[in-house]
Amino acid sequence: MVVLGVETSCDETSASVVTDDDGIRSLVILSQDAHAVFGGVVPEIAARAHLTAIVPVVERALADAGVRAQDLDAVAVTAAPGLVGALLVGVSWSTAYAAAIGLPVVPVHHMEGHLFAASLEHPDAVPPFTALLVSGGHTLLLDVEAWGTYRLLGSTRDDAAGEAFDKVAKLLGLPYPGGRHVERLATTGNPSRVRFTRPMLRRDQRLGDDDYFDVSFSGLKTAVRLALAVDPPHATADVARGFQDALIETLVEKTARAAQAYGRDRVVLGGGVAGNRSLVDAMRTRLAPLGATVYSPSPRLATDNAAMIARAGLFRLSLGETAGPELTATATAPLPGLVPA
Ligand code: KG4
Ligand code: ZN
Repeated sequence: MVVLGVETSCDETSASVVTDDDGIRSLVILSQDAHAVFGGVVPEIAARAHLTAIVPVVERALADAGVRAQDLDAVAVTAAPGLVGALLVGVSWSTAYAAAIGLPVVPVHHMEGHLFAASLEHPDAVPPFTALLVSGGHTLLLDVEAWGTYRLLGSTRDDAAGEAFDKVAKLLGLPYPGGRHVERLATTGNPSRVRFTRPMLRRDQRLGDDDYFDVSFSGLKTAVRLALAVDPPHATADVARGFQDALIETLVEKTARAAQAYGRDRVVLGGGVAGNRSLVDAMRTRLAPLGATVYSPSPRLATDNAAMIARAGLFRLSLGETAGPELTATATAPLPGLVPA
């Protein structure tokens, strides 16, 4: 099976050819730089930029893979969740292209794509596992019994992990998107100068408590703002380090709790924040004594890309889940395959 993946849910226009036997044949990602001056993604600009980029990005992905339209078995496209105008560009283009050459379209949930990303590089990153998805818009802690069977254990009550990084970057005067800039600054910070309370993390929390697996990052962002206002001021590197350590410890502890509660020996990370080296290292250090291996995609596959959409599309195609030209985009949608926790 040869699938063309298309991803336009936010500010990356991406296309990729993935096969079920040799994995990624090509991957093209065009990041929109125009948003940096606004300090965040401007939906209208994103949609227009996708419109300009979609055809050349797909043509390049097909050429890089050495694949012609008639070699494809399906087109997999992110149909939800995301910016609706941005999603619509990918969905409209994909449905029209597929109809013109007589191919099925496979709608993919963006977060299920993130769940599959690590498996493109690590053959052992397959269920059953504990998953932590940390992107700009979502923070999901899942128990994955099998592909397509997802138990949602916890999520954020306010800001997503990536959103917290981006907001703190803004407070620190760093460019958008800020995650990797905060990470770089934090490496030069002293870990013992600024310490923030670990949000939603207390020793007396017990399995069954509704905050046992959930996270929350908006209070941490406020704590950062207050720490930057003290006189004499803290070094920004120390504040960045304090913030990143607090966020990482919370994510790591909640993930360790989930792996232990369900007896999993594999932990799979996904989403842009999974490209953070300190998070992956801290996760490995904490999980190794529990006998669990941590799989994380490389930064290129951690952030938004069409290879993960094609890979999730291959799975959905194997279940016969195809759509026709009536397919539309939706801004919010629950992960498919959720089962009660
Ligand atoms: O998964 P993604 O590309 O897009 C969404 O689906 O939202 O994630 C983007 C997010 C941004 O908030 C960005 O700041 C964050 O991932 N990010 C990072 C790092 N690289 C990207 N956060 C922390 N450390 C990084 N190295
Ligand atoms: Zn994403």
